[in-house]
This record gives sequence, structure tokens and C-alpha cells, in this order.
Amino acid sequence: MADATDLENELGHLLDQERFSPPEAFAAGARVTGTQLHDAPGQDAPAWWLAQTKEVLDWAKEPTQSLDDSKKPFYEWFADGELNVSHNCLDRHVIAGNGERVAFHWRGEEGEERDVTYAELLADTQRIANALYDRGIRAGDVVGIFLPMIPAAVASMLACARIGAVHNVVFGGFAPESVVERMHFSEAKALITVDGARRKGKTAAIKASLDTVLEREPVPSLEHVFVVRATGIDTPMHEGRDVWMDEAMAAADPECPAEPFPAEQPLFILYSSGSTAKPKGILHSSGGYLTQTAWTFREVFDLKVESDVYFCTADVGWVTGHSYMVYGPLANGATSVMYEGAPDYPHKGIWWELCERYGVTLFYTAPTAIRACMKWGPEHPRKHDLSKLRLLGTVGEPINPKAWLWYHKVVGGERCPIVDTWWQTETGAIMVTTLPGAQDAKPGVAGTPLPGITVRVVSQEGEVCDAGTQGLLAIPEPWPAMLRTLYKDPDRYQETYFSKFGPGTYFVGDAARQDEEGYVSVIGRVDDVINVSGHRLSTAEVESAIVAHPKVAEAAVIGQADEDTGQAIAAFVTLEGDLEGTDALVDELREHVAQRIGKLARPKRIIWSDDLPKTRSGKIMRRLLRDVAEGRALGDVTTLRDPDVMARLEAQIKSGQVPRED
Ligand code: PRX
Repeated sequence: MADATDLENELGHLLDQERFSPPEAFAAGARVTGTQLHDAPGQDAPAWWLAQTKEVLDWAKEPTQSLDDSKKPFYEWFADGELNVSHNCLDRHVIAGNGERVAFHWRGEEGEERDVTYAELLADTQRIANALYDRGIRAGDVVGIFLPMIPAAVASMLACARIGAVHNVVFGGFAPESVVERMHFSEAKALITVDGARRKGKTAAIKASLDTVLEREPVPSLEHVFVVRATGIDTPMHEGRDVWMDEAMAAADPECPAEPFPAEQPLFILYSSGSTAKPKGILHSSGGYLTQTAWTFREVFDLKVESDVYFCTADVGWVTGHSYMVYGPLANGATSVMYEGAPDYPHKGIWWELCERYGVTLFYTAPTAIRACMKWGPEHPRKHDLSKLRLLGTVGEPINPKAWLWYHKVVGGERCPIVDTWWQTETGAIMVTTLPGAQDAKPGVAGTPLPGITVRVVSQEGEVCDAGTQGLLAIPEPWPAMLRTLYKDPDRYQETYFSKFGPGTYFVGDAARQDEEGYVSVIGRVDDVINVSGHRLSTAEVESAIVAHPKVAEAAVIGQADEDTGQAIAAFVTLEGDLEGTDALVDELREHVAQRIGKLARPKRIIWSDDLPKTRSGKIMRRLLRDVAEGRALGDVTTLRDPDVMARLEAQIKSGQVPRED
């Protein structure tokens, strides 16, 4: 790692700079900011969105109405309009004569390359759609997708959209248990998966390990499993249920008409962690979601569709992959890079090699990845010609000013504006950022709400905070890409998002501050959600995985500040009986969590504790655990049932529990 002094020298005068104006090239295309729009007389956000949707989407039947808030908080947008999402992402570009344009420059882990044009993606999508339809999948049915970063993942998502089926993509890093659980929760009728997936030179037998779990925990609704042949490894096939995707596609009709669906047709479910062990099935619908993803992709990334090449490093299994690798870029007819591998495989400069190779102009990643790149040293980006880059983006967690400046200087050559985009799985699309050309950027500060969006920083009681005062982020007006509900759990939807401040105001779950110019700094989560490398996990989810281990009596999990991953998981574990915590048991527990949830949920640190700090009513005081884990002075412990427990824990930590690195 470049040491601190190198870094200081490297960033030099930039360290004192608090704001950065957009370079000349962007000023010409100056946009109307959200603040300007809201200040303009007679403006109304729903009317403004109605005008935008007609511009960015191709509606089979244009909507005449914008927001319908009559069933608040179950809002609808453009409800009398009809469209087909896959037509908007594919057919319309081919019809316009752009069928030969590359949708994805795909790069496999071992260096294979494939350019997928819009015409090819449309052809594959239609065949997959027919293969699904031929097996009885109809509009409204749920189709699980568990695939690595290969073009078939995108075609499968669009195939669902084409026939009105609802996709439920699960991130490739999740364990088979988590995949099966999500199929169960969503009552999926089909699952599209892969024989094997490659990761850093190894191949994991995905289909076979899903089968093992499915045998143990059958999902009654699951009638069909489609298997994409990606690695050619030996794969057991279950007669009558499983089918090879290539064979199903070959047998399917090449044409599948893109029939229009109502704007509120559900498009996808994406499970995300909440404050209980059961993940939330965040449900998005079609017209509003596609409007805001398409509009924000065009405006925030300043898209010049003929010349830009865009690279989003997110996986399709997260919302960033959905909105800004699939729907936003494709709705605009953009050309993107899709990379199958890890950021450090086959070498630590692979992203920059790809940027040079494909002439990437727009680059979107997460702060945690930027921090990893800083650690690997500036020589990796510097080995490559990055002169085509003209705009950089970040998402997923607050970016510390040093990482921002490094990104700006080392990757962007001090010429590229950085858009720090704040949004969530629930918001569907970007809500707060700076518009290049219209606004200065401030390192570490997301920006202002986009046009058509309102956010506020409020007190616990819902009163708007003064500039500079920390409070809770809230969204007092609905927006087109918002989640519509939690799948099959409308009560939890109301309770989670619309009970704190009443039915009209969405509770975000983030702490934030707004400055005098209206710029929002997002500080972090206020609930029991941990953000590890921009991935959301709930403390309860990890705790329930740990306590499922036979040697564990009790566990409490917290998010601990971490220089690399933003937050890291620390687990305080009480063992059964007189069992002793050993290094071997640490490894066993970490592996156990990896098996149950996925490697991403493995605690970085396990602290053995013979008891946990509890109030007299038995509630675990996580705040105290966070304090002790981060080495802060302990506050008032008198409300604890056993006030000595904290002193014992502190001694335990000081005696040297070593965090594990992956
Ligand atoms: O805490 C905020 C943080 O990530 C959370 C949303 O996580 P998820 O639904 O997984 O979506 C991540 C990708 C959109 C938010 O509640 N977050 C996201 N973007 C930012 C951020 N925190 C600070 N700055 C951001 N730009």
C-alpha cells in the first residue's frame, strides 16, 4: 500500500479544496437542477415527470395521469399507460436502425471477449421468453435468476419483462440456502441458473449445490429449473423439472411479441436486508421505475449515446446492477462493458485494462472498491490509458474525502466530474447527486435532490432540521421509481417506511445533514442494517445464522467502522455450557455463516463473551457493543442487568482478539 505520506504528496493541494467546479466541457450542457425546478413558478413534480416519461420511454398507450395517491402509501404512477419494458430496452433501438450497436462488451474471467449487439440481445431475449412461456410461465409469475455476470443474466431479466413475469434475481455471492429461501418466500415458479460459476480461477458447481438444498428444503411452487451451460462441468439434471437453457432456446420460436402491459405491472422483486432476520422482498413496477432509471441514467451520467462507453462494476444481483447496468443503460440504447470477474482477478489493474481496451468514458463504482484500489497503489490505473474517461460515479455508501480526491486525481486525471449518487434498493433510482455541468461537487457530500424529487433532513419528531444539523433523511413526496410494496407483506411495507412520520412521508433509515446550499451529506444507517462494502446485511440475519450453530448459545452482531469496507461485521458470541472459544471455532463459525448466507456475511471479528450487555427487560444494548468494539469510552452502564459485563468484555478485547482478513 502507498503509505500515508505518499498519498498526501500525491493529492497535494487538492486536500484543502472543498468544492470542485465542473470542467468547461460540461458547462455547455448545463441542466436545470432540482432546486431550480422547484423554485420555478407553477412547477409540479408529477406533471414534470409525466412530461419526462413521454420523452424517455416508448409507450404503447401514453399515460394521461401521473401520480395517483388515492391509496397512499400504495402509490401508482402513469397508471393508465401501457408499455413493454423489454421493447423499451431492445426492440425500439433495433427498429430505429441501431441493431448492430453493441449493448455489452462482455469480458469473461479468463479473458474471453464477446460483443453482444442490441439485435443479438433481442434475439436471445425472445427465445428465453418463449422457453419460459412454453413451460407455462405467465404474466405475474415469479422467476428466480441466480447467474454470474454473463449476458444470459441480462437476457433472462428482459425475457421475464417481455412476458410480464416478475424476476427475482439473487446475487451470485449468496449461498444456495439463501437462494432457495428467496425462491420459497417469493413462491417462484421457475429458476434460471447455471451449471457452474467461475471465481478467481476456480469453478463452483452451482446447480449441483442448489439441488442439495432443494432436496432438503423443497420449494413446492418451483416447477422448472433452466440451466445455462456456462462452464460445461458435469451437472445432474432432474428429469421433468430441469432443462438446459440452450436446448430450450433452440426449441423455442425465435419471435415473441412484446405485448404491452399496464404501467403498474410488477417488474421485479429484489430481496434486501431489513432489521429482522427475514429479508424484505422489495417490489418494483414497470412504468415509473423505467422512467426514473432511464431519465437519471441519461442526465446524471450526461449520456452521449453515440460516443459514450459505460462501465458499471456492480453485479446484476444488486439494485445497482438492475438499474444502472440493465434497465437505465438499455432503455437509453447505451453501450456498456460487462465484466465477469473479481476486481483483482486476473490482476489488480483489470478494470483499468478494460477501460483502455473498450475506450470507457463513463465509470460507475462503489467507494469500497475505490479504497481497495488506493491500497493496491496508483501504478495500476497509471499503467493504462484512461484519457477517454470523462465522468466518474460512486454509489452505495458515504465516500470519504480522501478516496474521493484519489478517484478524482488518479483515475479521473482531474478532468472528470464525480457524481456521488445517493439512492437505495427501495428508491429504485438515483435521488440525490450533483448534475454535471450544473453544480459543483463537494468531496464526501452526495449533492441535492434531483428534479422531481424532494428530500428533507428532519428530527425524530419530523421537524425540519436547521442547515448543518444532523437528523434523519425523509422523503415527503412520492417518486416514480419507488418500491410499490414488500412482496406479499403490505403491512411490513407500511410499518417499515410509512409509520415513523405518517403515511405521506417515506422513512429512509439514513442519518444525514443538509448544508446551506441544500447539499445532503449521508452519514449512515440508523437501523440495524450493516453496510459492508456497499452490501446491505441485517444484524438479525447474521445473528440467526450464528445461533443456528450447535455450539452457540447466544450472539449479538454489530457493524463496526472499517477502513476498507466502510463497516465490518463483529459478532459477540456466547458459547454453550463451558465450551471454550478457540481459533478453530472462529473459523468454523465463519464458515457456518458463509454456508447459510454467503461469504459476504462472514464476521470479520468474533469476540467470545460469557454474557451480553442486556437491559433488565432483556434487550441487548448494541450501542455499548459498538462502543467497546471501536474502543470508545463506555457511557452509562447502570441500566444493565449486570453492569460488570462491559468491563469483562473490554478486558477480553484488550487481551487481543485478532480480526480475520478474507
Ligand atoms: O445508507 C445508504 C447507503 O446505502 C443504503 C442503500 O443500500 P442499498 O439498498 O443496498 O442500495 C445501494 C445502492 C443504491 C442507503 O440507505 N448509500 C447508498 N448510496 C450512498 C449511500 N450512502 C452515502 N452516500 C451514497 N451515495
